[in-house]
This record gives sequence, C-alpha cells and structure tokens, in this order.
Amino acid sequence: MNCRPVTNKIIEIFLQQGNKRYGVEPVTQLQHALQSATLANQESGDSQLTVSALLHDIGHIMDDADISQTLEQNLHDHHEHKAFHWILRNFGSRVADPVRLHVDAKRYLCTVEPDYIRCLSETSVKSFYDQGGPMSFDEKQEFESERYYKEAIRLRRWDDKAKDPNKETMNISFFIPFIEDCLLKNK
Ligand SMILES: [Fe+2]
Repeated sequence: MNCRPVTNKIIEIFLQQGNKRYGVEPVTQLQHALQSATLANQESGDSQLTVSALLHDIGHIMDDADISQTLEQNLHDHHEHKAFHWILRNFGSRVADPVRLHVDAKRYLCTVEPDYIRCLSETSVKSFYDQGGPMSFDEKQEFESERYYKEAIRLRRWDDKAKDPNKETMNISFFIPFIEDCLLKNK
C-alpha cells in the first residue's frame, strides 16, 4: 500500500488549516491535535490511539469546515461525523470509532463521573449541554455496547487536557510513522 497520499493529505490539512483557533480555546487546531496525540502516545504507547487523538477534531478543519468562534450559538456541529468515513476507509474502525464517539464520551463521562464536568473548559461545558447533556439509561447502554467505547473514553480524557497554550509537544512529523503504521494495519 502507498501511504503517501493519505499521510500527505493529513499534513497538508494541518499545515494549511491548523493555525485556525480552536473555537474560543487558547490554542490552535494544530496545537490541540498535537497535544492530544502527544498525551495519547505518552500514556498508551499505542499507535492507533495516538492517530485517533491526532485526527479526532480534523472534521473541524477538513474541506474548509470551520468552528464557531463564539459561545452564543449552538455548538453541536456534528464535527465528529464529518471526517469519520474518510478515517474509517483509510484507518479502520479502531482508529475511526473513538473519533466518532468522542463527543458521546464526554456525555458518558459526565454521567458516570458527575465531577468530570469540573475539568471541562467553559466551551466544553456549553457544548456538552448543546450535545444533549447527561445520558439517559438507554443512551448509556447504547454507548457501552460500542466495541471501542473504552478507547473513546481514553481519547476524551486526553482531548480535555489538550488546551494548554504553553504545553510543549512533539512535532507533526513525529507522528508520520504512527500514521503509516495504522494505514498498513488496515490494508
Ligand atoms: Fe478535541
């Protein structure tokens, strides 16, 4: 398999769109992606989780998509679905499903760990309610029936920590071997 076209597209998206601000958070899209992926790599050592973390918000900037820069409007923009099929096709469900589920994972965590909401940013609290707030019993059971729901929860915890404007991260090129490893695992 030739990994180059997919790897190049990811690098191109981050280099062309990654300097956009991550909503009203004090980091750019690229900083948020690199911080998430660096945490995933440090804490899991798993290439597929690392790539999920790197790509989890790429739906915000893929195909010139944009993210709300205010808290006034409804923040439930379904960005977790925008890149899902592209990620699934190229990387398979172990990388793509945690991306698709990372919004629901916040709702799940805030339901089963009521204190979790205290670690969320103001934007993330607002979007939590726009996205449906705490899960019902049935929603919780449906989430737990997903094959990769535990991976989605791990991704969510890194996502919520990846908003520090001063945090040092690995460079985007550091993650190329992880991307290519995952592409080869899916061939
Ligand atoms: Fe995120």
